[in-house]
Amino acid sequence: MCGIFAYLNYHVPHTRREILEVLIKGLRRLEYRGYDSAGVGIDGGNSKDWESNSKCIHLIKQTGKVQALDEEIQRQQDIDLDVEFDVHLGIAHTRWATHGVPSPVNSHPQRSDKTNEFIVIHNGIITNYKDLKKFLESKNYEFESETDTETIAKLVKYMYDNRESNDITFATLVEQVTQQLEGAFALVFKSVHFPGQAVGSRRGGPLLIGVRSDHRLSTDHIPILYRSSGKDKKTCNTLPRMDEDTCLFPVDEKAVEYYFASDASAVIEHTNRVIFLEDDDIAAVSDGRLSIHRIKRTAGDHPARAIQTLQMELQQIMKGNFSSFMQKEIFEQPESVVNTMRGRVNFENNTVILGGLKDHIKEIQRCRRLIMIACGTSYHAGVATRQVLEELTELPVMVELASDFLDRNTPVFRDDVCFFISQSGETADTLLALRYCKERGALTVGITNTVGSSISRETDCGVHINAGPEIGVASTKAYTSQFVALVMFALLMCDDRISVQPRRKEIIQGLRILPDLIKEVLTLDEEIQKLAAELYPQKSVLIMGRGYHYATCLEGALKIKEITYMHSEGILAGELKHGPLALVDKLMPVIMIIMRDHTYTKCQNALQQVVARQGRPIVICDKEDNETINNSKRTIKVPHCVDCLQGILSVIPLQLLSFHLAVLRGYDVDCPRNLAKSVTI
Ligand code: F6R
Repeated sequence: MCGIFAYLNYHVPHTRREILEVLIKGLRRLEYRGYDSAGVGIDGGNSKDWESNSKCIHLIKQTGKVQALDEEIQRQQDIDLDVEFDVHLGIAHTRWATHGVPSPVNSHPQRSDKTNEFIVIHNGIITNYKDLKKFLESKNYEFESETDTETIAKLVKYMYDNRESNDITFATLVEQVTQQLEGAFALVFKSVHFPGQAVGSRRGGPLLIGVRSDHRLSTDHIPILYRSSGKDKKTCNTLPRMDEDTCLFPVDEKAVEYYFASDASAVIEHTNRVIFLEDDDIAAVSDGRLSIHRIKRTAGDHPARAIQTLQMELQQIMKGNFSSFMQKEIFEQPESVVNTMRGRVNFENNTVILGGLKDHIKEIQRCRRLIMIACGTSYHAGVATRQVLEELTELPVMVELASDFLDRNTPVFRDDVCFFISQSGETADTLLALRYCKERGALTVGITNTVGSSISRETDCGVHINAGPEIGVASTKAYTSQFVALVMFALLMCDDRISVQPRRKEIIQGLRILPDLIKEVLTLDEEIQKLAAELYPQKSVLIMGRGYHYATCLEGALKIKEITYMHSEGILAGELKHGPLALVDKLMPVIMIIMRDHTYTKCQNALQQVVARQGRPIVICDKEDNETINNSKRTIKVPHCVDCLQGILSVIPLQLLSFHLAVLRGYDVDCPRNLAKSVTI
């Protein structure tokens, strides 16, 4: 939901061309967050002196993907790409439109005025922007875009023009602005009044800072500066004096680069040293030094931000030989599920250890019910594992869509344990539901893929699924890893119940062979491509199943909808007679999932009902199930696994099918229209 990226070089000389290359590369990594339009803001002058060049700001913006912006940059006449900058801040943005259609004027950076005194990039939504706009219009500010963000750019100029002291710092100014904002944001500002300085802040939207330096960093944390009192903020125009040891770099040490970004994939090729900002942090780089301040200290505040070392490799976020990230991520699943289990499942003595839960597992075992809360694909991971969780924990398990859970003001109690399943760890509804459950005293558990994300930080405990970066907007490997993580949790919950040990062993041994079985399913790729060649002109696809495979139906239909733009519906086979059967005729494409589990006979009945209505279902079944194979015109045969893990093997053919359908229909697989990877608003 919009990607923001900024690059500040301090005494690391770069030509304008090189700076733009860094910005464009950063945007390309973040493109999955939004790709309606993109823009950059850089210093504009063309003289030999970089300091005088910073007296004006140049904006380049373009509708469409980052590639279109790159081409627009090459067309620029009035900037000299070979001018060298010793110190420079460039800010860049890739947009997922919320307020205002995709167009250059609605793209970011947004500006304070026609001379670009202040510019800003924003991810999020400002809910009180209409009030702010009204106020600013009453002060004769003229708006040019339809965005909420433009009010931020104008507000910062207003604050600057009406400052009480000439000594005001850029950080203080931004602090004053953020205090007026309601809603969600991650922001980075640039100004001609503060050359070579960057200020970023967040509330609800993710923001991190990567640091690269020639010398060893003198500390592994940055202490937070607090104003002595939040009450006198109006008169407090400068920050309290910074002690030397609160700064990351001693003044005499030069040559440092900072990267502000929505996520780590944009900085990893430059540095693995990052600081994740918390809500309401104001981070400022001035004179090559980074400081972070907050207005006042509240209970539970950590007084420092750690400089963390990322384990991610650049290679993990490159497409390699695949045509899209989605395809790469589908084919990564044999390894990604191994990474989810690594160091956690011992296949020799059938034990499971989840370090992130060890301090809370006793409390979880005593709880009164489990509530799993998520959106989209992550919700389906909850649906897929609900049955095994109910079986092994003997607890009531609710699975909730975060938005609906909040709409209903669902009762939550202190002895509930609430799970928040999220690939990005930033999904707005899931995060709001987390805060809602925390307020009601429930224990909160995060199941996330993104280390340092809001959900992983705000939950009491959790499990990182370790699937590696997922870039394709359509979630694939995160789903199967969430699935595995939740099964591991179910196994952990019953590790001391003697009666379930045979079942536990069966499932753990199922996990052992799972990666090889996934590899076997992936060999169906060519066969599924052929099926896609038959189906791609169709308007609609129905997917039916029940029990462990109902989630596969929902997830398969979601994948088809989101990247092929075909209508698709996941149907619980038990509901067929209650309505959906009316859709079946000889033309309607139907996919049925029939596996050898406790629902087998009922699924066979459903198959008969569909066939009796002249339906010609394509059946995903167990490769050893001769009965189904012989009774069906067309089958996709997958290997057998323990019943509660079989859903991982039944979903992969549908991931592949949606991918091939989208390619054949000529769509951009990784960037489906109207969607973005991380829904932070
Ligand atoms: C579908 C998809 C979305 C996400 C949903 C939640 O392929 O990716 O439905 O699953 O937006 O996102 P996370 O898991 O990041 O909370």
